[in-house]
Amino acid sequence: MQTIYCNLKEKHPIYIDNGLLNTALLIDYCLGLGSTIVIIADEKISAQYAEPLVAKFNQAKIIVHLLKFTANENNKSRETKQELEDKILALGCGRDTCLIAVGGGITSDMVGFVAATYCRGIPVVYVPTTLLAMVDASIGGKTGVNTPQGKNLIGAFYQPKAVFIDPKVLTTLAAEEITNGMAEVIKYAIIKDAAFFAFIQNHQQDSWPYIISVCCQLKKSVIELDEKEQGIRQILNFGHTIGHALEKAAAHKVSHGAAVALGMVAASYISVRLNYLDLASFEKIVNILKAYHLPVAIKNIAKEEIKKFLLLDKKNKNRIPHFVLIDGIGKVHAADNYYSEPLTAEIIEEGLNKICLP
Ligand SMILES: NC(=O)c1ccc[n+]([C@@H]2O[C@H](COP(=O)([O-])OP(=O)(O)OC[C@H]3O[C@@H](n4cnc5c(N)ncnc54)[C@H](O)[C@@H]3O)[C@@H](O)[C@H]2O)c1
Repeated sequence: MQTIYCNLKEKHPIYIDNGLLNTALLIDYCLGLGSTIVIIADEKISAQYAEPLVAKFNQAKIIVHLLKFTANENNKSRETKQELEDKILALGCGRDTCLIAVGGGITSDMVGFVAATYCRGIPVVYVPTTLLAMVDASIGGKTGVNTPQGKNLIGAFYQPKAVFIDPKVLTTLAAEEITNGMAEVIKYAIIKDAAFFAFIQNHQQDSWPYIISVCCQLKKSVIELDEKEQGIRQILNFGHTIGHALEKAAAHKVSHGAAVALGMVAASYISVRLNYLDLASFEKIVNILKAYHLPVAIKNIAKEEIKKFLLLDKKNKNRIPHFVLIDGIGKVHAADNYYSEPLTAEIIEEGLNKICLP
């Protein structure tokens, strides 16, 4: 088993091991966090991954409750949060309650936010069951819900007490969801680790514990420097500026992973045009995305719509889109400790032309 510590104000472990959920580690760990356990699970995977945990807590004679919810972006809402809170209140749970989130990123964002505000903050433990949640959503403490105005607009920074990753659960995950997670895996390699990039060029998905642990290390090393995204944490947004705008322009018909892949191609191409990145590295980036079945160009998308949403990006300053760019594979472009750069409409257009086919 690998244990990675997130060294924030309060240190917490990330455990990674095949078969981890069959051991007693999670049960023993939660014993120290509260007298009552409430497991909140994505209803689609509850029978497979949450109910066996309930049985384990019951065997250990620990008070445990299971709540399920429909985990999708529409339901990742203030209304669902309130419904879950009302159910926990109805169970009579007080401050010595520990929540366990079992599911993908929607579940951890939702349950983390419930934990952040219930009784002004109770312990939460994550059991991520998608690749994206393992390498991204469960690390770093961002929690929150969507509103009609946009994604994740209401939320809090709130760290879990521990993260339990069992890569074996990925065997039931749809191929499309693996691809979504791979976009983030490739992102980490591009922004921070050339050796890891070379590794994933040569190894497909037969090394999950290793791949997941490298990503967790990379993300936590950034979070430790900048928990609240005041500076270097911005590098994690590589590919996401155009990615998010494209997702909205396509009314979420393009998956998050595909949108981020296209955003990474555009940002890498812009890096080439600004003479930060060499063309050979750009081509390697395009090739690795293709190798993992991620798109590098898209047809039938209105460029003007993408531009409209770019102007609404949360990270804009004075309505000017800011992009994370790269100097090479494994190296983000930084000037005077600024990790994102304002770009002109002309250069953004060039990036968009690279990915938007007529
Ligand atoms: N907090 C953060 O830092 C952060 C980072 C990245 C993404 N996110 C958020 O994460 C969310 C996306 O997360 P996601 O991609 O995990 O989506 P998700 O939670 O919707 O899971 C994707 C799908 O996989 C199913 N599923 C989950 N685990 C499974 C398993 N083991 N086997 C079979 N099916 C399984 C789910 O039911 C769902 O249909 C977004 O809302 C995004 O905003 C948060």
